[in-house]
Amino acid sequence: MSAKLTFLGHSGFLIDDGATTLAIDPFLTGNPKATMSAEEVRCQFIALTHGHADHMGDALAIARRNDANVIAAFEICNYFEEKGHGNVNPGNPGGRIDTEFGWVALTQAFHSSSFEGRYMGMPCGVVAHIGDKTIYHLGDTTIFRDLELIGEIYRPDLVLVPIGDRFTMGPELATRAAEMIGAPRAVPIHYDTWAPIEQDPAQFAPQGVEVEVMQPGDTLQLD
Ligand code: NI
Ligand code: MN
Repeated sequence: MSAKLTFLGHSGFLIDDGATTLAIDPFLTGNPKATMSAEEVRCQFIALTHGHADHMGDALAIARRNDANVIAAFEICNYFEEKGHGNVNPGNPGGRIDTEFGWVALTQAFHSSSFEGRYMGMPCGVVAHIGDKTIYHLGDTTIFRDLELIGEIYRPDLVLVPIGDRFTMGPELATRAAEMIGAPRAVPIHYDTWAPIEQDPAQFAPQGVEVEVMQPGDTLQLD
């Protein structure tokens, strides 16, 4: 089995195992680097790390259009239900959610989470097991020692690590974070979307980790 990732820009991905597509943090409308529109996204599942607009901005429209199952913090799922989208799969950090394609676990992230002035629960990382591959999307977070423990528990094949600085780790902390997690491959995310988070991805250089720098629209195959 395999998983194919398509980078949507910023922190967004589509992950396809050949039968099912999982979108993580789809943010396309208002994303100056996006190469795809929200209308073009086809998926059965959407996982969200937290409630900020640069992560869940398009999620409701995409969920409605695709009748997608939304996997996210309890409070985010409540919001979707109130907006008339009942196909939700609520969780919280520490929980593992079995799905048709495998499972999703929500992990801790040090950040905030709100949308339209409303509290959206704990910010999370998302570990997705799909196509028999384990992919750890860190969400928006700073570094914390338990990243090492999360790496030990889930043994991800690939990590998606924010490097934009200011709101998340910058390249220096992200490099240390990726080394602590210990996955063989890493993709830097959450940078260059706007001027305040411009970074040189070459500064993200964890030892012993193969770094894949993806441009919006690029795909990465995990076999
Ligand atoms: Ni955020
Ligand atoms: Mn963000």
